[in-house]
Amino acid sequence: MKICMVGSGYVGLVSGACFSELGNSVICVDINKKKIENLKRGIMPIYEPGLEELIFRNHKQKRLKFSSNLSESVQNSDIIFICVGTPTNKKTYESNLKYVFKVVNDIKKNLNKYKVIVNKSTVPVTTGDKIEKILISKNNNNKFDVVSNPEFLREGEAIRDFLYPDRVVIGTSSKKANNILKNLYLPLIKKTNRYFHTSRRAAELIKYAANAFLATKITYINEISNLCEKLQIDVAEISLGIGSDERIGSRFLRAGPGYGGSCFPKDTRALLSIAKKYKTELSIVKSTVKSNDSRNKYLLNRIKNILNNKFKGKKITFLGVTFKAGTDDMRDASSLVLIPNLIKKGSNINYYEPTGIKSELNKKNVKYFNNIKDACKNSDLLIIHTEWNEFKQLNFNKLNQKKKFKIFDLRNLYSPIKFKKKNIEYFGIGR
Ligand code: UGA
Repeated sequence: MKICMVGSGYVGLVSGACFSELGNSVICVDINKKKIENLKRGIMPIYEPGLEELIFRNHKQKRLKFSSNLSESVQNSDIIFICVGTPTNKKTYESNLKYVFKVVNDIKKNLNKYKVIVNKSTVPVTTGDKIEKILISKNNNNKFDVVSNPEFLREGEAIRDFLYPDRVVIGTSSKKANNILKNLYLPLIKKTNRYFHTSRRAAELIKYAANAFLATKITYINEISNLCEKLQIDVAEISLGIGSDERIGSRFLRAGPGYGGSCFPKDTRALLSIAKKYKTELSIVKSTVKSNDSRNKYLLNRIKNILNNKFKGKKITFLGVTFKAGTDDMRDASSLVLIPNLIKKGSNINYYEPTGIKSELNKKNVKYFNNIKDACKNSDLLIIHTEWNEFKQLNFNKLNQKKKFKIFDLRNLYSPIKFKKKNIEYFGIGR
């Protein structure tokens, strides 16, 4: 099939590369000409494990192309995926749809034959209806169907999530469009038989409801972990004990610094603003957002206790600063709140990050190191912020020459018993 991905960001690139891997002819479009030129030369705009190889292979086979010419790309394709950004307004938390609508207006001018217009961007419920309205005109009769096909890709695991999906959700009332998309996804759904044909509005809401549910699950275990800390219980035992109940499920029960990234914080808030518009109270999602927002304050308080309220002149090393492992994404990472607060209190920060130096942390008294050892040297406190594999089996006594130092493990990567015999005071989350 001939596919056009409009928007070569995270979703568009990963999905486009995977569709081409399945044998389709794919063209990834972006208004950013530099990005397109770079992609043609094999330079990736994002860090995602496996993506570079996938793009290189399919580009070489000429199944995957890149272009900044939207009109031509749309005209030559049967299925158009809209994958452009929908940034959230910082005050109202509503998604800004100007990029989506701009693309739709451009598509409208290029409907030379029947095409399925699929929205993959996360958009408020009823956006599909609005897209359809824009596209309708005398000339365009029967020339298109508008479908919602939300993505469920985790950063760092995106290719696996795409090729081995838990589910594929297709929202449309058109039989014709449904058949075309079922055919497109056939190689993937054969493996799992989890293809769901829903109404378009349902598909749009599924995305928000899924992310808000997962965010709630994480927040729930984080709050339980706060109680565990008071009762000297290890939250990992609680996660195991409740997660083995199939109705609850074991995944997304890792207590930690709170959820971050480009999706959960944005989507939970956007869902609340949709609910407000339709005068519906979503008190659980509201509490989740509030609780997660207070997480950094809670962590700062824990650090205060760990340091006996003595921040001044202390050297604190962060191992990892991104919002989670497997990504270079800093959006809504707790390090962005913790580090400035610690500097304000007079501490000096060292950090090591596997994906390199971060411009967001370009501040006085913050130093980047390109290796773990130099970053840890002579630190008073090591904060394991991100769960990168390379932090999982470190010999801290070798890394840090200081006689006495402390570790605050925000991801519970280590067993506390390990440190009992050593001269290291170790603190985790919910234990
Ligand atoms: C999330 C969803 O998992 C995807 O299904 C969805 O498609 C994507 O958002 C999106 O809307 O585009 P992502 O933001 O990449 O993917 O990251 P997750 O792996 O879901 O983690 C989100 C946050 O939750 C991270 O801060 C992570 O550290 C935290 N988390 C996750 C926990 O604190 N505990 C857990 O047990 C799991």
